[in-house]
Parts: sequence; C-alpha cells; structure tokens
Amino acid sequence: MRTLFASVVGIALIVPSVLWGAQKLGEYPAPRAPAVVYAKTCGYCHGRNVGPIILGRHLPADYIKMTARNGRNAMPAFRPTEVTNDELNGLATWISTASTPTKEQGH
Ligand code: HEC
Repeated sequence: MRTLFASVVGIALIVPSVLWGAQKLGEYPAPRAPAVVYAKTCGYCHGRNVGPIILGRHLPADYIKMTARNGRNAMPAFRPTEVTNDELNGLATWISTASTPTKEQGH
C-alpha cells in the first residue's frame, strides 16, 4: 500500500513536469526571421502583382506595422497569433530598410 501510494505521488509529480518541460504553455515559439515571415505572409501578394511593391521604398516602419495589423481594402489584417509583435517589429524594419527588389513585379 505504501509503495502504491509512493508511486502514485511520484507519477503525479513527474507527468506534469515532463509535459510542461516539453511544451511551455502560453509561450510563443521563437520569432521567425523577417525574410521568412515576408516570404510566407506578405510575399505571395506583394511583388506578385497583387499588392504594391513595398521593398526598396523606405516606407516608415510604423506605417508598415499599422497596415499589417489593420489591413487595407483588399489586404487582410494580420493578428498577433499569425505574426507576433516581435516578428512584426523585425519585419517592419527589414521591409523599411530593404534595397530595391530585382525579382519582384508590381507597381
Ligand atoms: C492578400 C494579399 C496581401 C497580403 C498577404 C499582404 N498584403 Fe499588403 N497590401 C495588399 C494590397 C492589395 C495593398 C494595397 C491596398 C490599397 O491601398 O488599396 C497592400 C498594401 C500594403 C501596404 C501599403 C503600401 C503603400 O504603397 O502605401 C503595406 C505597408 C503593406 N501592404 C504591408 C504588408 C505586409 C507587411 C504584409 C505581410 C505581413 C502584407 N502587406 C501582406 C495585399 C496584401
């Protein structure tokens, strides 16, 4: 009986720590690099004749962030669950300081 009690308590202590160790609940994964976020989330419209060219125009970072969070006409808004605040900060700076693209198309 004593052994059974000890193993039940043991398992009750071990199981949650294993689960929490593997996946930290409520935490975002590490931020993705700006070029990755751009390619996945923005680049299938921008530079492909759907959205205007935004690279190489030195648009202000705050303007880029506001547009991404609020959307505009045909452009959808992106929530923090899709692009985190950390990622958006990096992305906005990256777009704002990017050089003129050679392969992108648009107006
Ligand atoms: C579904 C297509 C689509 C996606 C995805 C998209 N956009 Fe757009 N975006 C547009 C369109 C269309 C416009 C032009 C809206 C207008 O002014 O009518 C636009 C406009 C903008 C502008 C304003 C450009 C200007 O000339 O003033 C910025 C900045 C911008 N988008 C940033 C982003 C960022 C950052 C992302 C990724 C997080 C993104 N967009 C994803 C379609 C898209």
